Order: sequence, then C-alpha cells, then structure tokens
Amino acid sequence: MKKLITLLPGDGIGKEVTAEGKRVLDKIAQEFDHQFEFNEAIIGHDAIEATGHALPDETLAILKKADAILFGAVGHPHYDNNPSLKVRPEQGLLKMRKELGLYANLRPIKLFDELLEASSIKPEILRGSDILFFRELTGDVYFGERGRKDNDNTAYDVMIYSRYEVDRIAHKAFAAAQTRKKKLVSVDKANVLESSRLWRSVVQEVGKAYPDVELSHMFVDAAAMKLIQDPRSFDVVVTGNLFGDILTDEASQIAGSMGMLASASIGDSVGLYEPIHGSAHDITGKGIANPLASILSTALMLDISFGLKEESQHIIDAVSQTLKAGFRTVDIADSKTDKDKILSTEQMGAQVTQRIRANETVPAN
Ligand code: IPM
Ligand code: MG
Repeated sequence: MKKLITLLPGDGIGKEVTAEGKRVLDKIAQEFDHQFEFNEAIIGHDAIEATGHALPDETLAILKKADAILFGAVGHPHYDNNPSLKVRPEQGLLKMRKELGLYANLRPIKLFDELLEASSIKPEILRGSDILFFRELTGDVYFGERGRKDNDNTAYDVMIYSRYEVDRIAHKAFAAAQTRKKKLVSVDKANVLESSRLWRSVVQEVGKAYPDVELSHMFVDAAAMKLIQDPRSFDVVVTGNLFGDILTDEASQIAGSMGMLASASIGDSVGLYEPIHGSAHDITGKGIANPLASILSTALMLDISFGLKEESQHIIDAVSQTLKAGFRTVDIADSKTDKDKILSTEQMGAQVTQRIRANETVPAN
C-alpha cells in the first residue's frame, strides 16, 4: 500500500514523540511491504514565529493532500501567561479541525494490564476498563461567538450546537456501539443548558435507528464522578467538545497516564491522529516524554484511515510486550519498576519498534 503521511510535530514534546511514531510507521512499512512517504509541516508556536500564523496557509494546503496526518501537540508557556495575546498556538489546532472538517474525536481509554499499578485509582476498580469516547470536535463553546463588552469588563463565549452537528456525531457513536457492548452513554448538562437539551433530543431521535443499542443519558457532573468510581460501567460515550475535553483528561488516569492515550480525529476527508496530551514544556528537551500515545495513534491511523487491521494490532501488541518486559517511561513507572528499565523517549520507541515483526504473531495479553 502506498500512502502519504504528513507529520505535524508542533511544539514542545510534540516533536519528540512524533519522531517515535514515525519510527514505528517506518518499521511497519518495511516489515509489511508498504510504501509510506512522509512530509512535514509547521503549526503552533513555531509557525507563529516563522509566519505570524498558528496555521499557515501552506500547512493547510499540505494537509489537504495527505492520506493521513500524525500530529504532536501545540502550546507554549509564553502564551499561557499572557491572556491578552491575540495570536495563540492553540488557534492553529482549532482552525485545522474546523478547516479539515474533523468533527469526531475518538479517544479510546484502554488499560494495559501491566499498568494497573501506575494509576492512582485502585486496581480492583480499574481492571478491565475499556471505554471509547466520541468527543464532538468542531462545535460548542470552542467555536461559538465570543467577545468582550461593557468596556472590557465582561467576556462571553457562546455554547452553541446545531441539530446537524449533533446528528452526525451521534450516528458515529451509535455505529461504534453496535460493534462493541451495545451500550451508549450520552453526556450533557440538559438540566441547565439549552444547547444540551437540543443535544439530548437529537441523540434520542438518532437512537431510534439503532434499536439494538441501549442508550442512556448522564449529566456531565455525574459522569465525571462515575468515571473514576466505576469506569467499567461505561462502554461508548458521546459528548460535546468542552465536556469531552475535560472528561477525557480525567479518563486518562484510568489508563495510567496522559502519556498513554491516543486519539483519532475524523470527518469527511483526511484523518488526523494525535496523543491527547499537550506540549508539556516542563519536560521538553529532557528526552523523558512517553511516546506510547503517539505510537498508539499510529495504530489508530493504520486501522481507521488505511484499513490495515493486522498491522495496527502488531503495534498494540508490541506496546503490550514492551510493557510486559518491564520497560517504562517515568510517567508510568512505579516503586516496583527496575531502575534500569526506565527509558528515554527514544529508547522506548526503539523497544516497541524492535518488537514489530511481520512473520511473528506476538501473543496479545
Ligand atoms: C485537546 C487539547 C486542545 C483542546 C487544546 C490544546 C486546544 O486540550 O486536544 O484535548 O482543548 O481541544
Ligand atoms: Mg484536552
């Protein structure tokens, strides 16, 4: 198979982890006889420095021609501490999602058994957790009208959803639920918000076409509690942009670390794959970032964008085997970890890569 993959490493540790994602894709190409060509584009802080824009037009043009995109992260402390700056790295990410029509963000939360102890949640509560989040990605308060008034003394961001936007993400979530345990939880705040009441009624309407899926609704505050109280009670979750952003960071603790969670953003054209973590400037340049979220994002890419299920499973199995062999990055290490097995970003990438071999089926755990 011949594919053009655009690398968009972005800022901070985005560069470090994306290099390991690429290393894995190169190995897959070599082992399974595919031709993956790569090109690279800029976004975020680097792009602002170079062009004045967080998502330059040249980048967008490159992305539109790609068969899939491997994205790292955007962000920089310079902007976080200066709320008055008008051009911000995150705008690049948001504009990219909107321009490429990436309205569905899939965030699978699956705990590798080896990491049961890495979470701050009790193992007996976590064991067997497997949740698939569908976060709506191009609507909500992220894209509603915003501004200042009253001589700059008041600010507002409008939470807004249209029927069409809810309808299309709901269909995706129901269809996914049909392939899993056939249980879908829709999360909103319909006891307070009008946009949530529309959300709930559209999800109910869409549900009529999926009678085999058991639909339930939960308010976001209750869902936040239930997620760590009883994560196994969830199968597929569908929610809006803001609630999904917050709940998936929370849910990352179920998988042990933010450094483990991959995501896929899909819509009507090219798919974008990225770790859910950010640019993490506090650890940038130290070589200690966990590359597994980026590596697992490449597994999602192969499966969802290219239909290469076997290759995708090889990556997941290689990650599992690496963890089973005791290797950890610092974020997922615990008191029982052998000090010699705490790896740098590159070493972790290399450990996973060397376990990918086409003619060997590595037993899944
Ligand atoms: C995410 C991130 C982004 C978001 C930021 C960087 C704009 O937190 O992808 O979850 O809020 O969507
Ligand atoms: Mg987030």
